[in-house]
Amino acid sequence: DDPRLVDTFGRVATDLRISLTDRCNLRCTYCMPAEGLDWMPRDEQLTDDELIRLIGVAVSQLGIEELRFTGGEPLLRKGLEHVLGASAAMLPRPDISLTTNGIGLARRAEALAAAGVNRLNVSLDTLRQDRFASITRRDRLSDVLDGLAAARDAGLAPVKINSVLLRGVNDDEAADLLAFAVENGYQQRFIEQMPLDAQHGWERTEMVTAGEILELLGERFTLTPDSEERGGAPAERWLVDGGPAVVGVIASVTRPFCGACDRTRLTADGQVRSCLFANTETDLRAMLRGGSSDREIADVWRDAMWAKLAGHGINDPSFLQPDRPMSAIGG
Ligand code: GTP
Ligand code: 5AD
Ligand code: SF4
Repeated sequence: DDPRLVDTFGRVATDLRISLTDRCNLRCTYCMPAEGLDWMPRDEQLTDDELIRLIGVAVSQLGIEELRFTGGEPLLRKGLEHVLGASAAMLPRPDISLTTNGIGLARRAEALAAAGVNRLNVSLDTLRQDRFASITRRDRLSDVLDGLAAARDAGLAPVKINSVLLRGVNDDEAADLLAFAVENGYQQRFIEQMPLDAQHGWERTEMVTAGEILELLGERFTLTPDSEERGGAPAERWLVDGGPAVVGVIASVTRPFCGACDRTRLTADGQVRSCLFANTETDLRAMLRGGSSDREIADVWRDAMWAKLAGHGINDPSFLQPDRPMSAIGG
């Protein structure tokens, strides 16, 4: 029997995405309302020790090779460096990455690298201060730019920039964002907006599609497909003006990549999700707190992933957005 996280379609999950908190210090309009959300009560969150135990089960028994820490905003998690350090000490040593909004990153990049982070992805939708303030509802653009530079200088390579383009808001900045990334040694990626916002306000016609993004970039750059193996990566990649710079497009909606999915997810309250868009969750926190063994937990995690659906279904007429918003899943 394969000890790994296999599903009925033959996919193997080797990449664990962990949401460390559902809280965030920005309020991006396409993610949550201005007043924020009803945050998860502290006692419902896994403690550092509980989390480290689950990561240990995943790495030592379930074949997880990569860990990505997300949020909400993962830098808001108090025990972050402790959890990172414990993860980096596991065998076989997992690849460790972080997806952050970059606030506070400037003064923590060195410590994150020292704790074991290998790579870092930073969200940035605009280079203009006024737009940043209106998209995120916080006037913090310079913090993010400082954070990016600090991450690069700390050797967290590649530093990737994640941008969501919003029609009529920042879609005229696609080429500017790519030029900025190329000039500064970051890897630019554009993401199609997905129906995961807390307000349930996603509309297909508002989404800037991969096709449109490539057209916008084509006005200033020559893009050629990158021949490097994509594996389970959500991003399709192109060489920029012959390379070595590359740009990625994550086209979850118009070019779904679920057939190659290699992910399993853990929420801050200890629920396994087999997919970003899963409508069921598996409660590992109850097992931890009820005295289950590592072996029992591993078996239940395997069962949860075995039941993974073929794809997200966003393009099906019967699609239903999951109750849990992006900020509480971790993207
Ligand atoms: P890399 O390992 O650096 O390629 O990271 P990543 O792109 O997988 O992760 P990141 O956290 O930077 O996420 C970028 C975007 O991809 C976000 O909008 C995520 O929600 C989205 N994303 C990540 N994993 C999946 C996935 O399995 N399915 C879909 N549809 N989107 C995903
Ligand atoms: N669709 C696509 N991407 C999203 N992000 C947040 N909400 C959505 C959504 N509904 C992005 C963030 C960040 C990345 C982790 O996910 O902007 O860059
Ligand atoms: Fe995997 Fe679900 Fe993302 Fe598709 S939508 S790639 S199945 S997590």
